[in-house]
Amino acid sequence: MHTVKYKSNLEDIKLAAEVIKGGGLVAFPTETVYGLGANALNEKAVKAIYEAKGRPSDNPMIVHIGNMGQLDQLVQFVTEDAAKLMKAFWPGPITFVLPKSNLVPDVVTGGLPTIAIRMPANKIALALINASGCPIAAPSANLSGKPSPTTSYDVLEDMNGRIDAVIEGEDCIVGIESTVLDMTSGRPTILRPGFITPSSIEGIIQKPVKYDESLFEENVDNLKDSTPKSPGMKYTHYSPKAQVRLIRGNDEMANSRMRALGLEARREGRKVAVLDYAGDAGKAAQRFFADLRELDRQGYDLILVRTLDEEGFGFSIMNRMVRSAGYDIVEE
Ligand code: TXA
Ligand code: MG
Repeated sequence: MHTVKYKSNLEDIKLAAEVIKGGGLVAFPTETVYGLGANALNEKAVKAIYEAKGRPSDNPMIVHIGNMGQLDQLVQFVTEDAAKLMKAFWPGPITFVLPKSNLVPDVVTGGLPTIAIRMPANKIALALINASGCPIAAPSANLSGKPSPTTSYDVLEDMNGRIDAVIEGEDCIVGIESTVLDMTSGRPTILRPGFITPSSIEGIIQKPVKYDESLFEENVDNLKDSTPKSPGMKYTHYSPKAQVRLIRGNDEMANSRMRALGLEARREGRKVAVLDYAGDAGKAAQRFFADLRELDRQGYDLILVRTLDEEGFGFSIMNRMVRSAGYDIVEE
């Protein structure tokens, strides 16, 4: 299959929307990561997403809307709190899990009775959805298991020849995927942490928000054989070809440990890279996935990553770092 490359002008976006309308697959930029989109109400088109990504079909997708008018057909109801949060954060990097309507094919939600919905903030994404006239199901536009793509180059690296088209936009600003917030139980629960943190959510609804138990490292062993609420979390994630190890501890100790580990690996003839964002969470989020991919291209064998403080947004970035390292954390 030849993958058409569209630019981000209106004319091209309209052509890309025709591809979506015809049941095709189009990768497009959002403010978080690039998505791989298809008409969410077209079962066959959504199935093709799983195939292009090599993704297990019990892993549900996020449905993207371009205006509030598209919401009602997808859900059974919107809770009062969810409505407040949508007003506060949409368009933006937060996804709400709500009871799904019968219109949504089971293939979109992996057979779950709930649906994950988001209105992205990126102008190209919004224009594409609105020109298509349908909600767009879109997971991240990478091969399953690889780091999510935050540039059109990264998308093409994985998807060239596997999808109908890509819209080449700017690099993603946030750099990690949206916060996924489950609004279907009594207590709003974060299933996947992102740029929008519990405290900013609590500030809007004046109610405590919790992180799902599966997000805590100490629960990982149980997680492996349980049925997590967010099925996406159980699969290998964000893994480059290189081995990734995280180094945690105070600066001095961690730096000397990184040097020692680097030296040891180099003696074994391995090519070693260090990622240290100096505690800058915004930069770490924006760069982390792209850096992993770039280091793979350059043939590194081992990537040593300095951890961040797990406060607020830092917790969300560490969630990705820990998974990309397969939970290999060196404590200092
Ligand atoms: O930022 C993002 O959210 C990006 C861009 C493209 O919008 N999309 C994205 O989609 O990350 P995906 O499919 O790679 O991740 C969807 C996450 C998975 O962890 C999945 O398990 C969870 O959302 N999810 C989807 N539907 C769900 C549902 N009904 N209940 C619980 N979790 C759900
Ligand atoms: Mg993904």
